[in-house]
Amino acid sequence: MPGFTPILNLTFLEISYIYNLSKNGYKVDKEKILVTSALPYANGPIHLGHLSGAYLPADIYVRYHRSKGSDIIYICGSDEHGVPITITADKENVKPQEIIDRYHNINKEAFNKFGMSFDIYSRTSLKTHHENAQKFFKVFHDQDLLIEKKTFQFYDEKAKMFLPDRYVEGTCPKCGYEEARSDECEKCGSLYDPSELKNPKSKVTGETPKLKETSHWYFPLGKFQERIEKYVDQMHAEYKWKDNVLKYCKGWFKEGLGDRAITRDLDWGVKVPLDNAEGKVIYVWFEAVLGYISATIELSKQKGEPDFWRKYWQDQQTKYVAFIGKDNIVFHTIIFQAILLAWNDVNDDKFILPQNVPANEFLNFEGKKFSKSRGWGIDVIDFLKLFPADPLRYTLAANLPENKDTDFYWKEFQSKNNDELADILGNFINRTFTFVHKNFDAEVPKREKLEQIDSEMLELLKSYPKKVGDLIENYKIKEATLEIMNLARAANKYFNDSQPWKTIKNDKAVCATTLNICLQTIYSLAQLFSPVIPASSDKIFKMLNAEPTNWYSVDGDNLKAGHKLNKAEILFNKIEDEQIEKQINKLGIVEGVVEADEEIAIEDFAKIKLKVAEVVAAENIKKSEKLLKLKVRIAEEERQVIAGIAKDYKPEQLIGKKVIIVSNLKPAKLFGNESQGMILAADYGDGVKVIEVDSSVPTGSKVK
Ligand code: MF3
Ligand code: ZN
Repeated sequence: MPGFTPILNLTFLEISYIYNLSKNGYKVDKEKILVTSALPYANGPIHLGHLSGAYLPADIYVRYHRSKGSDIIYICGSDEHGVPITITADKENVKPQEIIDRYHNINKEAFNKFGMSFDIYSRTSLKTHHENAQKFFKVFHDQDLLIEKKTFQFYDEKAKMFLPDRYVEGTCPKCGYEEARSDECEKCGSLYDPSELKNPKSKVTGETPKLKETSHWYFPLGKFQERIEKYVDQMHAEYKWKDNVLKYCKGWFKEGLGDRAITRDLDWGVKVPLDNAEGKVIYVWFEAVLGYISATIELSKQKGEPDFWRKYWQDQQTKYVAFIGKDNIVFHTIIFQAILLAWNDVNDDKFILPQNVPANEFLNFEGKKFSKSRGWGIDVIDFLKLFPADPLRYTLAANLPENKDTDFYWKEFQSKNNDELADILGNFINRTFTFVHKNFDAEVPKREKLEQIDSEMLELLKSYPKKVGDLIENYKIKEATLEIMNLARAANKYFNDSQPWKTIKNDKAVCATTLNICLQTIYSLAQLFSPVIPASSDKIFKMLNAEPTNWYSVDGDNLKAGHKLNKAEILFNKIEDEQIEKQINKLGIVEGVVEADEEIAIEDFAKIKLKVAEVVAAENIKKSEKLLKLKVRIAEEERQVIAGIAKDYKPEQLIGKKVIIVSNLKPAKLFGNESQGMILAADYGDGVKVIEVDSSVPTGSKVK
């Protein structure tokens, strides 16, 4: 290759892209890759669990591949049909359209703020999708693949509608559980015919529904079982599917694939494109997976290149990876495949099948499942009002549920931010910049003589792109994240061991070498961290006054001596205990709902002595924003109590109030003041309110 100027402008990136070469000349294969993430239902805001399952890992994978120069597109969008949407609409007494518009926009914005780099975030309510899904249905129908069958289904005469399974509740014919679904019991796990359900009730009107005859189209999955089994085995052999995914598939194969109804009696969804199909829509799962294709077609339209999507979906060279959570496995490893195979059997334009479906397990929240109704967890959109995206991305990436369920803990989020992003990564960058600005006039110093420690650091830098890249390509994204932070750890150690504050005085050439390598390391970190914390990575590149390069050209030699640096910026702000406590306190608080707590015996409660007391004096405590020093009177006795309520009360607001005190609490010292008791207050997350007692109650009265 002609003598291009290495790095610091886009030249190299452009050249490498054209020639598929990395800087050191070895060939980087330019793969064509299609990536999708499960289309989330637009019936509520996405929470952190969604991010860990199917979105963040995919985004890291995609950003890495872009940096490597792969030809990759990343597709997602809202899933806007199906019963989950209509249930939400019914609850709020609004039209489904209102629900999907609301949550499509909220989730699109949440993803955007979180730094998701979709090429398109589409929606299944678009005409493009309806037409696409109907085309598949029609092709299958016209080749006589679909089987029309009559069945009996619950019908609500008052609401004039057939009731989907989730709309009917009754008593289980096997175990007597009273909240059983129409065809399955959650309690004892038995499956039965809806006609066997006792005391069926419609969830729409509360009326007793009647069984009424209806007909539906069934897709014969069994016809494809042999081929899908072979395909799964082959993909696993070649690309090592995850154990959880494989096990799940085997379970289905063993059971045997049968006919599945792919239509429903509903008026919300993609209409069945046949004349005799009034009031029928295509089953949401059947059309939602086709939504990936529709979204890519939509992207092609936006680009003004109508056949763009075929370059990915219909080129056998493309590698397709579908990122999902574990509850979506069967749809992405069996049903989608059957649909595509059925299409390929009768059409010349043949689709590719996923090469891998790296399904994740679930993320829980502080030890429990996310639950909107119990106030447990936090939505992405709310989280990002409180904290920036990158610390969240890093925390989630370092704890992905790749092999087992994991938990998000607020305290861990704080320590990942403070002790790792700020104190390891941020600190290394900061001390290097400060040193170079002060001693080398903000220029990259020249590398003069290499000691062993320097060569070792450079070797490490050279080894990193492949080390991290291999992990990401094998879907070990959590491990990749941990490894990148290890490089920042090694960098701090290198700085310490090299002692530039000493060498600056007695051997400037050695010092220059150290700082040159530190800056190269910052360059490496900026690039290696770019898939995980993209916004911070951009900032670091800006500080370096440099551009990213090809992933595999990051080699410890990316900044030329004499290159001028920009000023340092703050990368990560520390998160205070208080900010975290506030969030923890909010957990489980929902208007009208009580979180179940661990039970204690009455004897345990009796150990706590509660008494009525009157506040007689109150003052601020110097140097503390949180604490107030109170004098309270309990009958004849006076006590000093230190209370953490200064943010919510001025001292004078408290005087004269009758409150409740825990009178037998062991005294404790706070800010040098003894506290002889504790005052009861209600903590609602955003503040506290002291529990007040009617002024007629004498102090010293027992509270029981
Ligand atoms: N909407 C489904 C969910 O949130 C996922 C659909 S994925 C698709 O669980 F492939 F069907 F689109
Ligand atoms: Zn039962």
